[in-house]
Amino acid sequence: MPARDWVLLVSGNTEGYLSPCGCSKPMSGGIKRRGQMLKTLAVPGKTILLETGRFTTGNSIQDRFKAEAMADAVSAWKADGVAFSRVERDWSADQQASLQNLAGDRVLGDSGRTLGPFRVSAITEQSASAAVGNVVILDGDREDAEKFARSHPKLQLLIYRQQGMPDSSPAKIGSTWLVSPGEKGKYVLRLSYVNGKFSTYNVFGLGPEVADDPVTTAIFRRYQRRIAASGLIDQLPRPNDASFAGNELCSSCHESAAKSWKASAHAHALKTLETTEDDRDPECAPCHVVGLDNRQGFRSRAETPSLTDVGCESCHGAGREHSDKPALLKMGRVGESKCLNCHTSNTSPNFEFLTYWRKIEHGMGKTGG
Ligand code: HEC
Ligand code: HEC
Ligand code: HEC
Ligand code: HEC
Repeated sequence: MPARDWVLLVSGNTEGYLSPCGCSKPMSGGIKRRGQMLKTLAVPGKTILLETGRFTTGNSIQDRFKAEAMADAVSAWKADGVAFSRVERDWSADQQASLQNLAGDRVLGDSGRTLGPFRVSAITEQSASAAVGNVVILDGDREDAEKFARSHPKLQLLIYRQQGMPDSSPAKIGSTWLVSPGEKGKYVLRLSYVNGKFSTYNVFGLGPEVADDPVTTAIFRRYQRRIAASGLIDQLPRPNDASFAGNELCSSCHESAAKSWKASAHAHALKTLETTEDDRDPECAPCHVVGLDNRQGFRSRAETPSLTDVGCESCHGAGREHSDKPALLKMGRVGESKCLNCHTSNTSPNFEFLTYWRKIEHGMGKTGG
């Protein structure tokens, strides 16, 4: 048989981040871009595509919807092999069966499967007696990977899990390459395999320059509509109970504060979610509206029109009583810690209090600390 060149594409570790990760530009990752990147990098008839699993990090109802959307995507991308992580394996037999059906017969086990020139198995740390071919997807970290590679010197490629971005070149133990597609589904690895050996390694990030793949976009939309239709947002716990005045009432007495708020990004935070149909997603709305953890807080734009967006009371707290008797019942200080509830290291990595406060400054300019 003549020697052939192959391309191996590796991606995965979505960890629940079906949409681009974080709220701060440039956002990277997301399955719509991943679908496009995989299409761009594939060479017809010469490509093997591996998906490393870890679709989600838990097993809530929303996680199930995510995992099923991932299984649809993986089928649409025609992944040749899919590894399940501990998260998927911990699911009930029912849940697993629905994933296996959706992903066809692509799910890899520890007995190995032949895909082009590769014999690929998916291995947990425990399945030490597995039949190991030349490629292994290990459900473990770098330390586990090094140990595994040392005890399996004939292995050509070991794919493991790691947070952060993939290494810029593959680590090597003997002649075994150790690679990981990194975190949150943000990267795709491309390896070329020439004359029976891995020869090149490239990492592709999924930044805003990557277009959305139409087929994956349709799968993602279906997932979003499922979230909305399931009413998950209406089932969020609401431990607090205090009376809100709403943005209009506060604004009627505090004209200059209202003017500055109107001009700020906070005043269109719900619109931001509506534009992408993320407004009924319980993983998004809490930071983009007023009082979702409160019985009297935001329900929907129609039911609670003055509790939309990051409103006055998102920062100042519920203020119905102050609105009725402003001279008697004072509002408390806001201060920086309130901002950090929403401006987290994930959603707002560049947050710096004074810089940000200056952009939305109102009142007498005092910050209260
Ligand atoms: C309830 C959640 C929440 C709180 C509390 C909050 N923010 Fe925000 N903030 C947001 C959201 C959401 C956005 C993005 C809105 C959009 O563009 O749709 C944002 C955007 C901003 C922006 C615009 C960023 C830019 O680059 O234009 C500034 C500035 C800002 N916030 C400052 C603050 C400060 C200062 C505090 C505390 C005093 C604060 N925020 C408290 C949720 C919050
Ligand atoms: C923990 C609070 C929090 C959650 C949860 C959250 N956001 Fe945000 N979002 C923010 C903050 C804060 C900003 C402003 C970040 C900045 O500019 O520094 C923001 C900004 C954004 C922006 C950018 C607006 C712009 O034009 O710059 C988008 C888009 C966005 N969020 C969408 C989402 C989506 C979609 C989800 C759910 C998958 C989500 N957010 C969940 C807090 C949150
Ligand atoms: C009926 C008019 C009115 C409404 C409605 C109103 N305020 Fe006030 N607010 C006042 C007055 C008057 C003061 C000054 C009270 C004083 O200094 O004795 C004040 C003071 C404040 C202060 C400074 C701290 C304090 O309590 O003195 C903040 C902050 C504030 N209001 C925020 C809000 C917010 C947020 C809302 C909506 C929940 C709101 N106000 C609704 C009239 C109003
Ligand atoms: C992103 C958070 C945030 C939002 C949204 C916000 N404020 Fe404020 N506001 C602050 C902070 C921070 C201060 C500075 C004083 C402090 O730390 O309490 C302040 C100060 C004020 C003051 C002056 C208090 C004083 O003693 O000088 C008033 C009045 C006020 N806000 C009213 C409003 C009204 C009305 C709205 C809605 C139209 C609003 N704020 C929206 C965070 C916010």
